Amino acid sequence: MVDQPGGSRSIGIAINGVTGRMGYRQHLMRSVLAIRERGGLALPDGTALWPVPVLVGRDETRLAEIAHRHGLTDWTTDLAAVLERPDVQVYFDAQVSQQRPAAVTAAIKAGKHIYTEKPTATTVAGAVELARRADAAGVVHGVVQDKLFLPGLRKLARLVEGGFFGRILSIRGEFGYWVFEGDWQPAQRPSWNYRAEDGGGIVLDMFPHWHYLLERLFGRVTAVTARVATHLPERVDERGQRYQATADDAAYAIFELAGGIIAQINSSWAVRVHRDELVEFQVDGTEGSAVAGLRECRVQHRAATPKPVWDPDQPVAQRFREQWQLVPDNAEFGNGFRVQWEDFLRHVARGQPYPLDLWAGARGVQLAEAGLRSAREGRRVEIPAL
Ligand SMILES: NC(=O)c1ccc[n+]([C@@H]2O[C@H](COP(=O)([O-])OP(=O)(O)OC[C@H]3O[C@@H](n4cnc5c(N)ncnc54)[C@H](O)[C@@H]3O)[C@@H](O)[C@H]2O)c1
Repeated sequence: MVDQPGGSRSIGIAINGVTGRMGYRQHLMRSVLAIRERGGLALPDGTALWPVPVLVGRDETRLAEIAHRHGLTDWTTDLAAVLERPDVQVYFDAQVSQQRPAAVTAAIKAGKHIYTEKPTATTVAGAVELARRADAAGVVHGVVQDKLFLPGLRKLARLVEGGFFGRILSIRGEFGYWVFEGDWQPAQRPSWNYRAEDGGGIVLDMFPHWHYLLERLFGRVTAVTARVATHLPERVDERGQRYQATADDAAYAIFELAGGIIAQINSSWAVRVHRDELVEFQVDGTEGSAVAGLRECRVQHRAATPKPVWDPDQPVAQRFREQWQLVPDNAEFGNGFRVQWEDFLRHVARGQPYPLDLWAGARGVQLAEAGLRSAREGRRVEIPAL
């Protein structure tokens, strides 16, 4: 970190995969550049941390375009050269998942602090190897767990911490939307997501998210039973070419949690939305229930629970959705990705281990691998502690 006049310290951050959807929009624009627009990251000692991005990727033209658009000058296609630079202290990876382990390994060897998108690797062995290497090198390491920082889920966390639910019984999650096949309307997600050989698949993509949410909010995941499907076996890619979708595009899973909580989560890119948000979790407890999405969270207390009677011969007498109460924000919630970047960078500045680390990332990959195994073998798979 280089001291600047006025009490600000620069921290060089190599952002690899910055031309991608996540790398560009969420991480460069809405996080790193947004922190700069806010005057840097205020540290407890009264100084500010000033992130200096170095754009890394494969395509010079696209990197130059992005740099130009945002008034940046530092970009390269040479990762090895960036990793040798002493003014770059953090390596961030938002490449396609399969490219991640090699690049993160190189960055650890170069002594850089690591921040990365999930899944951290496409196998548990690979993910554990990264965590071990990062620990051995003594670098600070973190994994993106953006959903934990979203308003709806922060309000849900507040309910859990405040003891609103009593004994938590179950969680049901519904995630998904229709991802267009790419023929008469372009697909809204990159085609590699639908090819297993390229590290695609909804299980590898979403189970790491479900893992950190379940683990942080409710408890350790001890077993999984999953059924996966490739509902749409053929899609059309970015160049208009038909291809075989070899990866799962839907997963129907039951997760067992320590303490007996049962979570059932559907994930699908072949479902049409009849929900308030693209993902929703209903949590039922003895004292009350909640339904949380990305932004909102609604509750129903035990004392306000209606008493429906099953009678299909009668018209519906109650407006069930209207019986829930909105949980107030009571705080300002920034962009979830930016808030987590700030959290990670504060740990780097203090030289403290970051709790949402590569081990947590490895546990997410472990759940994905166990889910796929459960589906393949048609059975419940227990999940040992890593
Ligand atoms: N946290 C989240 O909510 C979230 C959401 C979506 C994706 N992701 C993760 O972010 C990562 C990137 O996803 P994305 O949707 O931005 O993908 P994308 O296809 O838009 O971007 C991929 C990036 O990787 C680069 N790349 C490097 N080597 C490549 C190769 N051999 N083939 C193709 N691209 C290559 C591309 O140039 C591009 O910059 C994935 O690991 C994905 O799992 C996270």
